[in-house]
Amino acid sequence: MNTSSESLFARAEVRIPGGVNSPVRAFKSVGGTPVFIERGKGARIYSSEGQEFIDFCGSWGPLILGHAHPAIVEAIQQAAASGTTFGACTEREVELAERLYQRVPYLEQVRLVNSGTEATMTAIRLVRGFTGRKKILKFDGGYHGHADCLLVSAGSGLLTGGIASSSGIPEGVTADILVAPYNDLEALALLMDRYGHEVAAIIVEPVAGNMGLVPPEDGFLQGLRKLTADKGALLIFDEVITGFRLGPTTYGVLCGITPDLTCLGKIIGGGIPIGAVGGRTEIMKLLAPLGPVYQAGTLSGNPVAVAAGLSTLKVLIDENPYADMARQGKRVGDELKKRMLGNGHKVSCANLGGMFTIFFSERGARNLADAKRCDTRMYARFFHGMLERGIYLPPSQFEVCFISAAHTDEEIECFLKAVDEVLFTRDSL
Ligand SMILES: Cc1ncc(COP(=O)(O)O)c(C=O)c1O
Repeated sequence: MNTSSESLFARAEVRIPGGVNSPVRAFKSVGGTPVFIERGKGARIYSSEGQEFIDFCGSWGPLILGHAHPAIVEAIQQAAASGTTFGACTEREVELAERLYQRVPYLEQVRLVNSGTEATMTAIRLVRGFTGRKKILKFDGGYHGHADCLLVSAGSGLLTGGIASSSGIPEGVTADILVAPYNDLEALALLMDRYGHEVAAIIVEPVAGNMGLVPPEDGFLQGLRKLTADKGALLIFDEVITGFRLGPTTYGVLCGITPDLTCLGKIIGGGIPIGAVGGRTEIMKLLAPLGPVYQAGTLSGNPVAVAAGLSTLKVLIDENPYADMARQGKRVGDELKKRMLGNGHKVSCANLGGMFTIFFSERGARNLADAKRCDTRMYARFFHGMLERGIYLPPSQFEVCFISAAHTDEEIECFLKAVDEVLFTRDSL
């Protein structure tokens, strides 16, 4: 086709607000024109102008097997050929629920929805229905989709009393949202001392991925489990990013902590829209039609999404590519740390499994306040330097880079070579 991204974006801006269907795609925080993608294969994507990039964004997480994996494409084609939606029960939905239970024994029941946002929104309604309490505690810098009550930013205080980070959200909707700094059990204990008896649930990304990658410190998640149990509140793990990302299961299983509810999305749909909320039957049975907590969806449990998800899980379980992704992630982390030592660059790298973030600050981040100290203008220059060298990163400092099972060692070397050129040569940033 060879149509420039500039001309496509100019067209897009006329008929689509901001030219995008999800804001971060607009490159606002790095500047420039978004690259229009025509196709992808493995770890590579190709722009409308025919440029080739090694992709470390992976559609923000779902593409753990890379682009257009043959088994997933076949599963999608077969499912679509048999009918794309019935709005009626299908066996594969049951299979996916069973498969999730098999890998995550505390997902006694799951309800499939269409996005991560729907999963967290449903989880919030469920915990409020179950406990009869209103307050929800979330963490500063935790993103749980764009449902009204969860779009709250914390500012710097322990408690915001619910200042919405979007207009169009009435005060009443966020008044019951408490916000605490991530990785800070002391602050959390203070909040729970005061409000714990009113808190329906704490919702947390067990590994934070929306302020850059910020892993939980030792004891943090255990502390959450204990504080919630002590106060009769529930614990929701939002594993929309981490579910099946760091092992063929949830992070809760990997770290040995059982939340009351878990939200999933991204990977379990193999690149087709999906979400899921699951947990103990005692809680899940409150959902309609069994119970009084209403939730529904025309396309929920969609046959194509479920087929793509099942097929993705099958490959992940059969081939178990996690050790390889973790080895490559460690190589990226180790090499970057080695290069950063003593060269005066204010850069650090967080990595876990196949996830990593390069922070433009010396200290890295243990919470949002740290992450916000990063030099985002430097990140923007880094991003464009990498893009010019054929490396596609998330267009924001506050996101995670993903290594997929399709990334080869050579592609990781290309990434490191580009980093060297952009960051560590004499004329670099
Ligand atoms: C942790 C987390 N929860 C929820 C969501 C919302 O998912 P979706 O974009 O599918 O609505 C996201 C999206 O990135 C996420 O990272």
